[in-house]
Amino acid sequence: MYTANTGARGSVRKVTVPEVRARKSSGPKIAMVTAYDYTMARLVDESGVDMILVGDSLGMVVQGLTNTIPVTLDEICYHGRAVCRGVARAHVVGDMPFMSYQTSPIQAVESAGKMLKEGQFESVKLEGGEAFAEHVHRIVRASIPVVGHVGLTPQSVHALGGFKVQGRGDEAAEQVIRDAKALEQAGAFCIVLEAIPPDVADQVTRAVNVPTIGIGAGAGCDGQVLVCTDLLGMSRGHSPKFAKQFAQLGDAAVSAFKQYVNEVRAGEFPGAEHSYKPNHGELVEAEEKMAASGEGGGVVVPFMR
Ligand code: KIV
Repeated sequence: MYTANTGARGSVRKVTVPEVRARKSSGPKIAMVTAYDYTMARLVDESGVDMILVGDSLGMVVQGLTNTIPVTLDEICYHGRAVCRGVARAHVVGDMPFMSYQTSPIQAVESAGKMLKEGQFESVKLEGGEAFAEHVHRIVRASIPVVGHVGLTPQSVHALGGFKVQGRGDEAAEQVIRDAKALEQAGAFCIVLEAIPPDVADQVTRAVNVPTIGIGAGAGCDGQVLVCTDLLGMSRGHSPKFAKQFAQLGDAAVSAFKQYVNEVRAGEFPGAEHSYKPNHGELVEAEEKMAASGEGGGVVVPFMR
């Protein structure tokens, strides 16, 4: 065994894939959050979250797109590298973008391999059930851990006719269960369940032996995932029903920016405490002392503030 270069925060132990899988029976529930850059990743990791997902939701959150379809493999890898620099403990998962794995199992293995080599991810997530079980199997055989994702799969937004709740009705619910079982069989170590009725999520959670991680899938899952900007109340515009805001950082940010604008316009910022010492600080001090003692009236001391 080689000595690993563990970096600056090397004393912190990483959450591993076997540990995540074992949480199905041992608990506690798994907490997962998305992150897309170094600063957010550091904050999220400091909170003790178990898994960080560099989701293709970055298309909407970071790039301002209306869906995730245009996001590329290179973009996911770029954000993966930034996030990994900020993470000491959490397990970091990368989302496989649209058309980076759908074409064939070979394409899926190559893309997943690139994500580990160039994005520094520790596992990959891909959308789809039975239809992509072979792809998952081949990636897992290449020693790359896979997170499954069933229910609402946002890369299928056009095929589904919008971002809609899935798994309603017996037939649709049974399909979600079949999809999750196929992913488990193929070797996925946990499965994201997105936007399905809570009772269906409960059925899926009972039907598989790997943890389920819900987003809009009720409290019965083995874990939960939220988009970081939704969780922090930073998103503007429509927010999905399941996206609980644990803070209102969007409003706090706007109010801080407003105060900055006002202080700049009024010449109040920067004050002395946010400025470097003047080049001729001793002359400034002398002038201040003279002014305080009432001396030097009318004498102009040459200095630059
Ligand atoms: O892209 C993403 O952020 C996701 C989560 C919402 C599960 O897939």
